Amino acid sequence: MKKWPPPRLLPPLLIFFSLFSLSTCRDTITINSSLTGQETLVSSGGGFTLGFFQASKYQYLGIWYTEIAQQTIVWVANRDSPITDTSGVLSISSNGSNLQLQSSSNNVLWSTSISANLVNPVAQLLDTGNFVLKENNTDNIAWQSFDHPTDTVLPGLKIGFISGQYRNLVSWSGSDDPSSSNYSFKLDLSGFPEFFLLDGLKRVYRNGPWNGVHFSGEPEMENNGSFTFEYVSNENETYYTYYVNDSSIVSRLVVNQSTLQRYVADTSGSGWILYWTFPRDQCDNYDQCGPNALCSTNSSNIADCTCLTGFEPESEKDWELRDTSAGCVRQVELNCTTDGFITISNAKLPDTTNVTVDTTIGLEECRNRCLINCSCTGYANSDILNGGSGCVIWVGDLVDIRQFSGGGQDFYYRVAGSEVPVTSSTSTKKNKDTGIIVTCVILGLLILASIVYLIRKKLRKNHENVSYMQRQRQISFESVRPLAPARDKALEEGTSTDGNDISLPLFHASVISAATNNFSLANKLGEGGFGTVFKGELEGGEKIAVKRLAKFSTQGLDEFKNEVILIAKLQHVNLVRLLGCCIEGEERMLVYEYMENKSLDTIIFNKARSSQLNWHKRFEIIKGIARGVLYLHEDSRFRIIHRDLKASNVLLDENMNPKISDFGIARIFGGDEKKSYTNRVVGTYGYMSPEYAMDGVFSVKSDVFSFGVLVLEIISGKKNRGIFSVEPSLNLLSYAWTLWKDGKALELLDSSISSNSNSNLQIMRCIHVGLLCVQERQEDRPHMSEVVLMLNSLNTSLPEPKQPGYFAARDASDKESSSSCTVFEMTVTVIEPR
Ligand SMILES: *[C@@H]1O[C@H](CO)[C@@H](O)[C@H](O)[C@H]1NC(C)=O
Ligand SMILES: *[C@@H]1O[C@H](CO)[C@@H](O)[C@H](O)[C@H]1NC(C)=O
Ligand SMILES: *[C@@H]1O[C@H](CO)[C@@H](O)[C@H](O)[C@H]1NC(C)=O
Ligand SMILES: *[C@@H]1O[C@H](CO)[C@@H](O)[C@H](O)[C@H]1NC(C)=O
Ligand SMILES: *[C@@H]1O[C@H](CO)[C@@H](O)[C@H](O)[C@H]1NC(C)=O
Ligand SMILES: *[C@@H]1O[C@H](CO)[C@@H](O)[C@H](O)[C@H]1NC(C)=O
Ligand SMILES: *[C@@H]1O[C@H](CO)[C@@H](O)[C@H](O)[C@H]1NC(C)=O
Ligand SMILES: *[C@@H]1O[C@H](CO)[C@@H](O)[C@H](O)[C@H]1NC(C)=O
Ligand SMILES: *[C@@H]1O[C@H](CO)[C@@H](O)[C@H](O)[C@H]1NC(C)=O
Ligand SMILES: *[C@@H]1O[C@H](CO)[C@@H](O)[C@H](O)[C@H]1NC(C)=O
Ligand SMILES: *[C@@H]1O[C@H](CO)[C@@H](O)[C@H](O)[C@H]1NC(C)=O
Ligand SMILES: *[C@@H]1O[C@H](CO)[C@@H](O)[C@H](O)[C@H]1NC(C)=O
Repeated sequence: MKKWPPPRLLPPLLIFFSLFSLSTCRDTITINSSLTGQETLVSSGGGFTLGFFQASKYQYLGIWYTEIAQQTIVWVANRDSPITDTSGVLSISSNGSNLQLQSSSNNVLWSTSISANLVNPVAQLLDTGNFVLKENNTDNIAWQSFDHPTDTVLPGLKIGFISGQYRNLVSWSGSDDPSSSNYSFKLDLSGFPEFFLLDGLKRVYRNGPWNGVHFSGEPEMENNGSFTFEYVSNENETYYTYYVNDSSIVSRLVVNQSTLQRYVADTSGSGWILYWTFPRDQCDNYDQCGPNALCSTNSSNIADCTCLTGFEPESEKDWELRDTSAGCVRQVELNCTTDGFITISNAKLPDTTNVTVDTTIGLEECRNRCLINCSCTGYANSDILNGGSGCVIWVGDLVDIRQFSGGGQDFYYRVAGSEVPVTSSTSTKKNKDTGIIVTCVILGLLILASIVYLIRKKLRKNHENVSYMQRQRQISFESVRPLAPARDKALEEGTSTDGNDISLPLFHASVISAATNNFSLANKLGEGGFGTVFKGELEGGEKIAVKRLAKFSTQGLDEFKNEVILIAKLQHVNLVRLLGCCIEGEERMLVYEYMENKSLDTIIFNKARSSQLNWHKRFEIIKGIARGVLYLHEDSRFRIIHRDLKASNVLLDENMNPKISDFGIARIFGGDEKKSYTNRVVGTYGYMSPEYAMDGVFSVKSDVFSFGVLVLEIISGKKNRGIFSVEPSLNLLSYAWTLWKDGKALELLDSSISSNSNSNLQIMRCIHVGLLCVQERQEDRPHMSEVVLMLNSLNTSLPEPKQPGYFAARDASDKESSSSCTVFEMTVTVIEPR
């Protein structure tokens, strides 16, 4: 594309213009003054120029930036009917009703095609780049170029549907050919309106419906000092535009072949900087993964398609060959009455062409409306401002969903009740309100479970009172056998061959009662897992810790049995020793050796006490815990996954030696069994690995994750609040990772302890190991045996850690802070709703 006249003539012409600037620099044409040849109109502020330009071999009438050296056409009048002879003439028709462009042979090539009844018509190029036909000296505009965009959106130009007309963008056919191509950017008003980038009729990219803040597929859109985005949708019109607030910024939005691009002029005024471009990666390609699949990209921008939970590839074979076009189908058909929902957070909402929107109701009513309507397959808020409002309901297949690492919004889709994973309610939330809702749901479930248990217990009591009394005398191993899943084979085999060889001393309840001064509050050490822990002193003076199960805890019973069996068989200097137990009537108690210094959390998180543990001690504690976990994982008679490693489950004896306690939810795993799946996710938020919290998959690597969190906590003296926290200083993993990347890892160290160059080496090593342990992908995390090695040989080189689990979720630059975390300090169990 060349400016007319050709560039080499420019210098002499400029001189010519400056000599006659008074007469040539005008911004209007009147009924008596047309525009022809090399004449131009320049807007009063000088920003835009209207005139004839040459592209390939023809001439066109267009508007370009006056001051940007690289001529950039933002509007073309006659893109599809070029001036093929020497020159064109732009004029106001003699009866004053139209603007028209004629060739030198007087053919009308282009016209505004209106019939304005203007008395004193003028056509003026405004400073916004808008060319208007209007009545002189009034704002009575009869026609404007902003109503007829070509491929570019200037600030204030509205695209969409206005005054009963669609205003679309259509790309040039080539860089030197302004004629209309098959690529366009159009609003689709059906359902919940969305803009589509189209190739003919084929959808190429969709930027998603406007969710009150940004387009659902473009979470990076943000009103800030530079740009203000405006989207209006009502019964009469739906449009999008933007404004540039800082007048020194020149920016345009353009459909360039199959992409949508925003450019900002560089400061020298010589050219443009590409600000962003859509589609930005494979996942932005419309329907990349087929229906009912989720697209996410890793760092290489390669689309990673996965079926939504509860769905499977329509054709397993095609899917494996990366032909995902057929998408996914349900594994279990919907039942309509017993269905549930799964949340995708940070989502780009699926195609909204066939949805219904009701802006008057909230999320809860939306869910109910979806639940009772058998054809509803998903729902979401239509507006995410102020915690969310409005309701969008999908029917049929869910098309073109992607998940961002940050931003986006929550989308809920329907699956058969049996497909709802237990943790769907715990998926990453960034929002205070939703955090609270989740809390309430979990607490509600817990309360429900206890009520159910109470009722069951009452019933059983009536039936079984007699036999129960008889059984309580024979306290053998049998009576504390766990109601264990068949998976715990090793254990069952162990018991059948070894018989009752667990010689665990039994205590009488009266003895324990006396030792703990009748469970006096003064002797209470804490509340843990499913019971209360008391301090006691036996008659001989031996100090004990007694864990007394809460009477109504249905979980507690299993955990109790589990713990008795497991720990009785384990012996390690870094595991707390079980001295005996007590089973009498309803009483279930475990008797441990007493730990003088209580649990680790009472020291490291306590500003007053944290200085009791200097770096040397902390390092020993970290190594001790590592050895204890290694013993569990690899060296004991059984291979055990603890599943609830955390600071409050590490006890310290009088010499500050760490001992791991609380085996209530530990699991034995077989030799070959690398991973297990549980539909009861138990553990403590903040310590649970992402794959365990999200999918219920646990393995030794989940313990490694918890260990890593623990290490970072011991170093920093700060609690990891886990996935619910967006405040970076509260999410320890992100904080540590950020410091590490910035080369400031040592700043993580608890300020109450001092360090020297010798300890710095150890601290760096521990942070490094900690970060390796909390890596997002379990394959990347080391085994405990490697961890112990890493901690003991400070000279070996280690791999660079990758980003920690939950980091991506936090990355969503959502600055709203969350304070809903404290409830999760306890060990929680989420029971699958049936
Ligand atoms: C246009 O020219 C005609 C005759 O030359 C004159 O009567 C009329 O006032 C002019 N109009 C304007 C707007 O200059
Ligand atoms: C004005 O003139 C054009 C031809 O130049 C004609 O098509 C149009 O109908 C006229 N409009 C009025 C309102 O007279
Ligand atoms: C428009 O109005 C201005 C004064 O307000 C006058 O100078 C000019 O000649 C008018 N132009 C036309 C085309 O009527
Ligand atoms: C545009 O679409 C039409 C009809 O689908 C097709 O014939 C033509 O080749 C397309 N043009 C380009 C440049 O792809
Ligand atoms: C505005 O936001 C964009 C990203 O959307 C960012 O690149 C730019 O620096 C921001 N400008 C200001 C002034 O914050
Ligand atoms: C839509 O247009 C009608 C008729 O012009 C008008 O009465 C109504 O107020 C408009 N609605 C909105 C939301 O602007
Ligand atoms: C930017 O300009 C738009 C319209 O000109 C205005 O509505 C908006 O409030 C301005 N934003 C800022 C941050 O100044
Ligand atoms: C289209 O995109 C290409 C590459 O991104 C760029 O070189 C070209 O200038 C763009 N064209 C327009 C009209 O912005
Ligand atoms: C990204 O995903 C692709 C395909 O799933 C895979 O081949 C590639 O190794 C991944 N890259 C990274 C950095 O994980
Ligand atoms: C859904 O499941 C419930 C309970 O299993 C059953 O009573 C009901 O008939 C099922 N409904 C359909 C439509 O299959
Ligand atoms: C919307 O419904 C039409 C007609 O049933 C169907 O052809 C189309 O595939 C649907 N679109 C989406 C995105 O589900
Ligand atoms: C279910 O929802 C769809 C979409 O909102 C609606 O078209 C349909 O009428 C509803 N069916 C019932 C029975 O309410």
